[in-house]
Amino acid sequence: MSTDPIALFKSKQRETWTMGNFGDMAVFTTPVAGHLVRYAKVAGGQAVLDVGTGTGVVAITARNAGAKVTGLDLTPALLEQAKESAKLAGHDDIDWHEGDAEALPFPDASFDVVLSQFGHMFAPRPEVAVSEMLRVLKPGGAIAFATWPGEQLIGRQFSLISKYVPPPQGVPSPVMWGDVTVVRQRLGDGVKRLHQERGIMAIPALTPKHLRLFQEAKAGPFIRAVQALQQDPAKLETWRKEMDEILGEYLQDNIVRHEYLLTRAIKA
Ligand SMILES: C[S@@+](CC[C@H](N)C(=O)[O-])C[C@H]1O[C@@H](n2cnc3c(N)ncnc32)[C@H](O)[C@@H]1O
Repeated sequence: MSTDPIALFKSKQRETWTMGNFGDMAVFTTPVAGHLVRYAKVAGGQAVLDVGTGTGVVAITARNAGAKVTGLDLTPALLEQAKESAKLAGHDDIDWHEGDAEALPFPDASFDVVLSQFGHMFAPRPEVAVSEMLRVLKPGGAIAFATWPGEQLIGRQFSLISKYVPPPQGVPSPVMWGDVTVVRQRLGDGVKRLHQERGIMAIPALTPKHLRLFQEAKAGPFIRAVQALQQDPAKLETWRKEMDEILGEYLQDNIVRHEYLLTRAIKA
């Protein structure tokens, strides 16, 4: 087994997203995919890459819009779900790849549009992921992605997890991708006409605890946090209390409403 910290980080990521059942969480990322594909102005016949496709919600949405689609993800178990879901949508021509956002297995300038929805933000070296996503994009093509702002629900939940279960040193928080200034810096001169807007994800819930238990059962990063804290029940209880307080701030009329950030730019 490799001792390279970046390779270890990715192998842990793969394990993390295999835990629980992200497919059940993807019910809530499905509407975001509709927003992202429209926002990116995906059109029929375009070659589109979805990085960190997971269960394929963005890839399948782009295919529904008539694009010629490739979906890539680090986690084979999620790609299996993506293939099943594509079949249900009536598509057998999406090109699925197991792979890494930091080493895209495609030639330069292969795609008209490169998308990522809460995907490339988990690559440990943002500059490498950006350089790869722009490398495979044609000049004049569009890059567009969805990320979690730090001061919104998921950003705050990730920060709380990091406070209790410190992440590996040297890997920037994925939530930095939710900061408009950081996004501009990271895309830099590689792009022009950068545009950003926010959308709202709505998750039905009866109480904060209902949604927290759902996240603890379905989503890898939450499952890992609970596993890590299980040795210290008092600490786990405090973590859960803090989680519920955060969730409670977003719950109204049995809906947890929280914002995500969309970014779109054209390759210079
Ligand atoms: C929160 S899920 C999002 C999945 C999907 N895009 C959606 O919106 O439902 C994060 C995804 O990023 C993938 N991922 C994490 N690190 C990656 C990397 N370095 N390269 C490619 N995919 C990665 C995970 O396997 C997982 O499928």
